Amino acid sequence: LDNGLALTPPMGWLTWERFRCITDCKKYPKECISENLIKRTADRMVSDGYLDAGYQYLGIDDCWLERNRSSDGRMVPDKERFPNGMKAVADYIHSKGLKFGMYEDYGNKTCAGYPGVLNHEKVDINTFVEWEIDYLKLDGCYIDPEKMDDGYPAFGELLNKTGRPILYSCSWPAYQEDAARKPNYASIAQHCNMWRNWGDIEDSWTSVVHIMDWFGDNQDRLAQYAGPGHWNDPDMLLIGNFGLSVDQARVQMAVWAILAAPLLMSVDLDSIRPEFKEILLNRDIIAVNQDPLGKQGLRVWKKQGKGTQNHLEIWNRELHDGSHAVAFVSTREDGSPYATTFNFDQMKLDDGDYEVHDLYKDEEIRYLKSGEEFEVRINPSGVKFYKFIPKKLEDPKTEANTVSD
Ligand code: DGJ
Repeated sequence: LDNGLALTPPMGWLTWERFRCITDCKKYPKECISENLIKRTADRMVSDGYLDAGYQYLGIDDCWLERNRSSDGRMVPDKERFPNGMKAVADYIHSKGLKFGMYEDYGNKTCAGYPGVLNHEKVDINTFVEWEIDYLKLDGCYIDPEKMDDGYPAFGELLNKTGRPILYSCSWPAYQEDAARKPNYASIAQHCNMWRNWGDIEDSWTSVVHIMDWFGDNQDRLAQYAGPGHWNDPDMLLIGNFGLSVDQARVQMAVWAILAAPLLMSVDLDSIRPEFKEILLNRDIIAVNQDPLGKQGLRVWKKQGKGTQNHLEIWNRELHDGSHAVAFVSTREDGSPYATTFNFDQMKLDDGDYEVHDLYKDEEIRYLKSGEEFEVRINPSGVKFYKFIPKKLEDPKTEANTVSD
């Protein structure tokens, strides 16, 4: 969507994956979807360096509404959990230099059963503008996926007409893929800044692998639609929660960077362990994700052996300066670190000499010469993630300088 927003994949934090529909603040005071959760997360995003690293959107997902609209048809935020209303939440978020994300559903109910937007489009959009939101995720429960091809663009046009820049996140293709109806990605890219393509991520390695498989298997009909202003969205980052080991969390961060995916954390920033925080704040990997060329990377090689043996894959993303980010992922669950070598063809790199930087910084800088094979040693369900920087073979000027020095 050409509205000047999301020129690189959006980065931020969203309630859903970690905090779901926790509404009982008596039992779970720290976790319930509430003003408190949003404020303490805003504080952490600033004090712990997430905003500086680029995570700027702070979004509420489902379960923030009262069960019914007001008598004049307006959305009412839950009065106990948002006692000061949503404008106060927005003001707090903005005072911290963050941007405010909101959630609604295009059907007549949200997936969790709260009021949906259908037949209230104008009043809801006006309300969102009053609250000064900066990002809207429009979910797609309780509506026929066939109606989305017209409905999502129509809603987006109303949003656009308000004159307030609001990043538009569509769940449109996710529901159509689920209904085995091939989405019109050209139209989706024209009308949305980002879009969920497929099912919800769950807090497990299995779920990450399924999503990687799906994006790899379907890349020929998806990848071309990603670019500045419009991105495929494989769903939130699980990093720092319960289901991923440190190695597995590194895989998700690496592959999401290659996929030019929105980086939406969903984790308790008060209690996240330092090793996960370090992954989320890895500047070199964020730079890959945010590369201005905006070209989505591809799974360029995959080997699927018997059982859990030999499951390896290579993901490669071309960057604006001619270098490549390459992730070597092992989805083996057996054994110990596995060493193997790859040739240029397997890695989909042009022949030449390269300087190779380990983006997780476990290894020193390496050099790969034309025609050589590249050796990697990957932990089980882990990743090695490198940037391959081409070296100009002959640069006469540099040689002359070297001589005269
Ligand atoms: C389905 C979406 O895909 C999830 O990300 C989340 O927004 C839930 N609905 C909320 O009910």
